This record gives sequence, structure tokens and C-alpha cells, in this order.
Amino acid sequence: MTAKLENACTLIVMAKPPRPHRTKTRLIPALGAWGAAALSRAMLLDVLDQMARAPVTTRLIAWAAEESPQDIPLPEVFRPVLQASGDLGRRMQALYDSVGPPVVFVGSDAPTLTAEHVRTALDLLEEDVDAVFQPAEDGGYTLAAFRTNPQPLLEGIPWGESDVLAATLRAARDASRRVRLMESGRDLDRPEDIAPLRRHIDLMPPNRFPSRTARQLTRIARRNHAMSIDPGSARSLEEAFERLDPDRIRQLNALADALPRFLEKEDQEQQRYGAAATTVVDELCCAVSYDGKAMDHIPQRILDIDYGCGDPTVYAEEGMTVLDLGSGSGKHAFMIARKVGPEGKVIGIDKTAQMLELSRGAVSEVTAALGYDKPNVVFHRGHIEDLRVDLDHLEDYLAQHPVSSYDELDALDRHIDERPMVRDESVDLVVSNCVLNLVRDDAKNQLIREIFRVLKRHGSVAISDIVSDREVPEALKKDLDLWTGCLSGAWRRDRFLDAFAEAGFYGIREESSRLWKTVEGINFFSVTIRAWKGKQGPCYETGRAAMYRGPFSQITDDDGHVYVRGRFHPVCEKTAELLTRPPYAGHFVVTEAQGSPDDKIPFDCSGGQTVAGEDRLHYGETECTPGSCC
Ligand SMILES: C[S@@+](CC[C@H](N)C(=O)[O-])C[C@H]1O[C@@H](n2cnc3c(N)ncnc32)[C@H](O)[C@@H]1O
Repeated sequence: MTAKLENACTLIVMAKPPRPHRTKTRLIPALGAWGAAALSRAMLLDVLDQMARAPVTTRLIAWAAEESPQDIPLPEVFRPVLQASGDLGRRMQALYDSVGPPVVFVGSDAPTLTAEHVRTALDLLEEDVDAVFQPAEDGGYTLAAFRTNPQPLLEGIPWGESDVLAATLRAARDASRRVRLMESGRDLDRPEDIAPLRRHIDLMPPNRFPSRTARQLTRIARRNHAMSIDPGSARSLEEAFERLDPDRIRQLNALADALPRFLEKEDQEQQRYGAAATTVVDELCCAVSYDGKAMDHIPQRILDIDYGCGDPTVYAEEGMTVLDLGSGSGKHAFMIARKVGPEGKVIGIDKTAQMLELSRGAVSEVTAALGYDKPNVVFHRGHIEDLRVDLDHLEDYLAQHPVSSYDELDALDRHIDERPMVRDESVDLVVSNCVLNLVRDDAKNQLIREIFRVLKRHGSVAISDIVSDREVPEALKKDLDLWTGCLSGAWRRDRFLDAFAEAGFYGIREESSRLWKTVEGINFFSVTIRAWKGKQGPCYETGRAAMYRGPFSQITDDDGHVYVRGRFHPVCEKTAELLTRPPYAGHFVVTEAQGSPDDKIPFDCSGGQTVAGEDRLHYGETECTPGSCC
């Protein structure tokens, strides 16, 4: 019977105001800061709903904040108070001291908690025990009820670690306190908690159902379901959850992260590059010598901002559309503006406002110096890991359509999809100098997929960057000076190249490499790599064959096809086409087509053809077009 305790009990919900970047930060990699805050808010409101029905006399919501937030619709039965300072134990102790026993504490991130659980905890307390806990799956607890001063159970506990409850139980034993445990509950701290929580919620009875949390979880599932899971193949929402694609969630939520402008805090990296935009920098990465004539149309203030590293501009050709990732002062973009000519186009992307001010400020001078009628270069503010989102455009949109709900976020997603900063398959060449290493490790693969998305078929990349011969240890990665100095974010050389292969590129090669620095035994190199897009698509038989010229006795391509020097191998039309283009051109003799791919005769490219196509030897070679050889 709980009558006695119910009549005197205070229930305290421990809560943080749900704010992007402040709450549920461990969920940010999966949900984005805004998504994590939205889920946090939903869980809090569900907990408050349930706790409003709990059998207690007083209900407090204790905010871990300097003042109570005004935008949370509190049920009337809750009185807001502020938590004291110190670790969680001290804060709970101070609250206990202010209200006296018995007290039930609940967390705001356990939406499976119900009024029934509070009743059970009070029933157990009645059995003359000192404390009752509801264990959480992560080793902590979601509810704690105290009938005597909890001080020994709250001191010296490793809060935030996985043995909070174990340490509490040891402390209880040492202090001779009697403790009872309830059936486990679920809270939500890490991305991997999402699917089990959803399963748990689905089994809850309607009157205890945390509907707001469920709605948020359904939205997350729906988005991912729609974006990355074949709708026909997932039998249930639950199954969709099992298959959440974290990269896709990250990509979606990069949008959400960009939303609240007030959160835009210049980090150390931006400050450094912001400062570099207005000063001449002595040394950032290793020196490059340029052809002065290729640069005499560029104002000196732009040339003064020099990062060294490499010169990927040499791969630009007349008429191309070229994308420069992390365009900085615009020097490379302006060099390319000359190479592609008035019919070509250059798009520079950078996230640092001062850099953009500098580069945009020089466009008309460069256009005049080149004698073009109109500018062929444009600079956008954006994150290179999400080339769909133009941040200036996003801000304009948000000024008119503030986003405060997931439906509005969906509308924003649609708007951006309709008007991406860089369209799918619109670019011939992607260049970048000394920037990819600056992208967060967890966004690097997404960045390469974005590059792949925007490239046209047969488009290519020319990227100069810093790579290391060994993995950069975590301690070095955390050194912000090394990070902004292009060292600690460096890719391991083989991983850099592999990442392009994994994204679907072919012909990946290191064009040049120079040792730049050795730090703590790790060698850092400045390299320029090239890679091409275009091996995707169906394989059709058109009667073509390819012969490898050497110098190796045989080679194996990325897809396992073996070419023996001096022997013809049957190849599909698509492969034949690739072998006659850079970077393979010149290494193979390729016979001409005898049929048309329009006939759509399937060619089996899967088996790694090793048999010489003797019967194809008499076909002409594509190298020798009429009048071009012998
Ligand atoms: C070392 S500077 C190189 C600038 C230019 N590529 C050059 O060679 O002169 C790095 C530039 O990348 C930009 N940057 C770094 N990370 C970025 C990101 N994730 N998205 C967009 N720009 C980024 C910085 O603002 C800075 O302008």
C-alpha cells in the first residue's frame, strides 16, 4: 500500500532544456543537432504527461539551466525549479535536501517510464527499504526513489559511464543501505538505442504510449525508409529501423544543423581561415611554383593568400565546368576561369565568410582582365560535404519560412532538392587544394559521394591534399593547430585512394607526391590524385576486344578482369569505351565495334574474362581512325 508515502512524496523530473547542440549530443551524429533536440523535446513532454498522473503530492521539473525555458508547455501540476551546480549526484542531493523524503527522481530521456512505475517504486519503498532504482539498459538508472538521505548513494559515482548503477549498489552495500531494483527501463542516449526503444514503445499499451516520441521516431524511420531503403523490401517499420543508414541521416540532418543561425559559432578553423583571408600567411601547407603568366589576370591581394600543397588547375580544359571545393581566396578558381575560357564555368565553394568576401570581391576585376563579357566564375557559401545546400540561399529561405517543425523541415528538404547548389551530373572536373583533410572524419566519405553525384559521366577529379603514411593517432587529431595546419585531419594514403574506389570512381591514381613534414614519426605527403566517374551502367556486347600493351606481363583491373600482355580479350562496349579514354588511353589496343549497344545484347562482365578473343583479332583498332595512323 502506498497511501502513506503518496501523501508526502515529491516527484522530480530532471531535465535539460531541449536545444540543438546542447541536449542529446551523442545522438547528433545520427540525427543532427536539430533532430536530436526535437527528439529530446518529444521525450520530455511524454515523460511529463505520464508523470502528471503519478500518485504523488508535489511535482517539480528541475532544469539544468540558468533559467527555466519559456517554450516548453508544462502541465500545470509541475512547478519549475533550477538545479544546483556540480555533478548529477550533488544536484540530486541539493534537490532532496530542499524537499525532504520521500523523493522520486526520473530522467526526461526515458519515454517508457509511466505513472505505474512510480507507483511500483513507492510500493517497494513501503517495504522499508532506503532506495529503489529502475535500471537502464546502459548501466545507469531511469528512476531513483529515496526514503532516507541518499548522500552515500550519490557521492563518488562515475556519472555518464556504464557502471553508474553498479557503483551505486556498491556504495549502498558499503553504507548498509537497503535497496530494491525494479524491472529495467529504457532511455535513449546513443544512436544504437533508437531501434530497441522503438520496439519497446510499440509494445506499450495505448494509455501509456509516449505518442510524441513515437511520432519523432516514425519520422526518422520514414525519412530513412524513403531515402535509403527500398520501400518494398522492408516488411515493417521496425525492420526499417534496423536498416537505418547513418550516412543518409547525417546528410539529411546537415540541413537541420544549418538551420538556427544563432548557433553559427565560428570554430577555431574558421577563425584561422577567416584571419588568413585578410593577412598574408607565411606557411600553411607545402610550397608550389606556378606559371606566373597563368596568373597575371589575378589581383595581387588574392595571390598573396597562398596555401601551397598542389596545383590541380593544370587539369582544367577549355569549355569545362569546374567545381573548386574550398575555394579560399579564389586563386585556383580564377586560374581555371582563364583555362576554361568564356564558354566554360567555374564554381567555387567555401564555408568561410571572409574568404568569400575576398574571392567574390575580385570577380569583376578578373572578368575585365580576361576580357570576358560576363563572369564565368561564381562563389557559393556552403559545406563541401553537402553540395546541395547553398547556405546564403538557405538563410534567405529561412528568413521567410522559419522552420520549427518536422513538416516545415520536410518542406525545406523539398525546396533544396528542387534547387540544389550543385546539380547532379553537372560538372566536368572537381578540383580541390588542401581542403579535404579539413573535413570531419565522419563526413569524409559523404563528401566523396557528393563529388561523385555532381560529376558528369566521364568527369574526373584532380585533388591535391595532405596524406599520411600511418594512421594519425587520436591525440594528434585533437590538436586543433595541427588540424587547421592540414596535418591531423590528413587521410591515410591508401584509405584516401580506397575511398574514391568505394564511391564508384575508376582510374584512381596518384599523379604526384612530395614529402612535406614528419611529425611524431608520421610522414605527411602532399599528393595530387586523379579519379574518373563512368564505369557504372549495363554491359552490352558489340564484338569489341582489348589488348594490353605492357610493360607488365599481365594486369588486373578494379573489377577483377585480367589482361595478359599482347593478347586480345573480349570486352563490353562500356569497357572498350573506358579503355580508350584517360587514364587508360595508350595502354591498350582496342578493336572497333561490330554491333551497336542499342541492340542491347547482354555481355557478361562478371567473370573476369581471361580468354583471348582470337576471333576478334581481325577487327580494326579504335586507335587507328581513318587518316590518323601509319
Ligand atoms: C587551406 S585553405 C585552401 C584554400 C584554397 N583551396 C587554396 O588552395 O588557396 C582551406 C579552405 O577550405 C575551406 N573549408 C574548409 N573546410 C570546408 C568545408 N567543410 N566546406 C567548405 N569549405 C571548407 C576554408 O574556409 C578555407 O578557405
